[in-house]
Amino acid sequence: MKDTLGYGIVGCGVIAPWHARAVANIPDVELVAVCDVEREKAEQLKQEFGAKHVYTSYERMLTGDDLDIISICTPSGLHHEIAIAAARARKHVMSEKPLDITLESIDDMIQACRENNVKLACIFQRRTSALWQNIKRTIEDGKLGKMVLGSAYLKYFRSQEYYDSAGWRGTWALDGGGALMNQGVHMIDLLRWIMGPLDTVFAFADHLARRIEVEDTAVASLKFRSGAFGTIEGTTSVTPGLTHRMEFHGENGSILVEGENVTHWDVPGEEKDDVVQQLADNVGNMSSDPTAISSHGHEVQIADLVASVKGDREPMVNGAEARNAVELILAVYKSAQTDQPVKL
Ligand SMILES: NC(=O)c1ccc[n+]([C@@H]2O[C@H](COP(=O)([O-])OP(=O)(O)OC[C@H]3O[C@@H](n4cnc5c(N)ncnc54)[C@H](O)[C@@H]3O)[C@@H](O)[C@H]2O)c1
Repeated sequence: MKDTLGYGIVGCGVIAPWHARAVANIPDVELVAVCDVEREKAEQLKQEFGAKHVYTSYERMLTGDDLDIISICTPSGLHHEIAIAAARARKHVMSEKPLDITLESIDDMIQACRENNVKLACIFQRRTSALWQNIKRTIEDGKLGKMVLGSAYLKYFRSQEYYDSAGWRGTWALDGGGALMNQGVHMIDLLRWIMGPLDTVFAFADHLARRIEVEDTAVASLKFRSGAFGTIEGTTSVTPGLTHRMEFHGENGSILVEGENVTHWDVPGEEKDDVVQQLADNVGNMSSDPTAISSHGHEVQIADLVASVKGDREPMVNGAEARNAVELILAVYKSAQTDQPVKL
């Protein structure tokens, strides 16, 4: 294997610079190609980050011999077709979240990557944070006792102008959903990651305040396979938008987080101040610079993918892991559409 792997980015819109910046900071990978159907967007990314090649067709880009890994930063409903083409061209794949918007597409991506012996990873940058890793470990180690409740309150604001800013936003075909599938998916991924698999979902979801096809607001009652219950409240239509709140309660203790701040760490035998101090150290550098937060997570995940390619191991968030959040969100939509509980 080459010492320095060639990296490409498909889709040069809002999130693409996070990938390009991460690649620039990782020693054994080099940005060689950028691609966007709108050439000027690709040219702009090239100018800023110095890629060798510019394409307007990902099929053409995938013929490049110097290309080993691509990031997919296009509208969500296009992730699968690009990932499958990349796998067939023997390029490893880092997809932006959500991995795609249907389980069929995601299963096709996973299969294509497996058959062609390439790695498939998905950006869920919050999973790289010591805070969420520590919460997961604490609950898995049984320190809260039997889990009773795990909930996510995601009360965000996106204006009508935001939805109108790109034709794919807020559409079933390309966004695959709204407040949950696009904005909420990060914290829903964490909730599912930390609390484990779902048993049943019952939900309401609709567009209450924005002119979009998909939901701007959803509420769901959850029953996890562990027996614990939970709630998701997700919206992009409240004023003001709030930081997310995540709540985990067991029979012996509770952990509550607002934004990235622990508001309750009631874990038997642990002092909140000690734990919060350690976690604050770990995420503190990033929180002083909001842009650095997401760059850091992208960098950790892209470096992990490069290491997984070189070491032939699974990346930290592989296809099967990234599928879980989409499965849960689609169950919410199905329940809302059918007025019935959905078993997973
Ligand atoms: N991890 C995060 O925090 C985060 C944040 C924002 C967006 N995202 C995800 O990133 C993806 C892109 O979101 P965005 O906000 O950057 O969107 P965007 O609309 O700003 O950019 C998408 C780009 O893809 C290009 N494109 C469309 N079809 C293409 C094709 N067939 N080939 C090449 N280029 C094509 C468009 O021209 C556009 O420039 C979405 O899946 C979104 O969910 C993730």
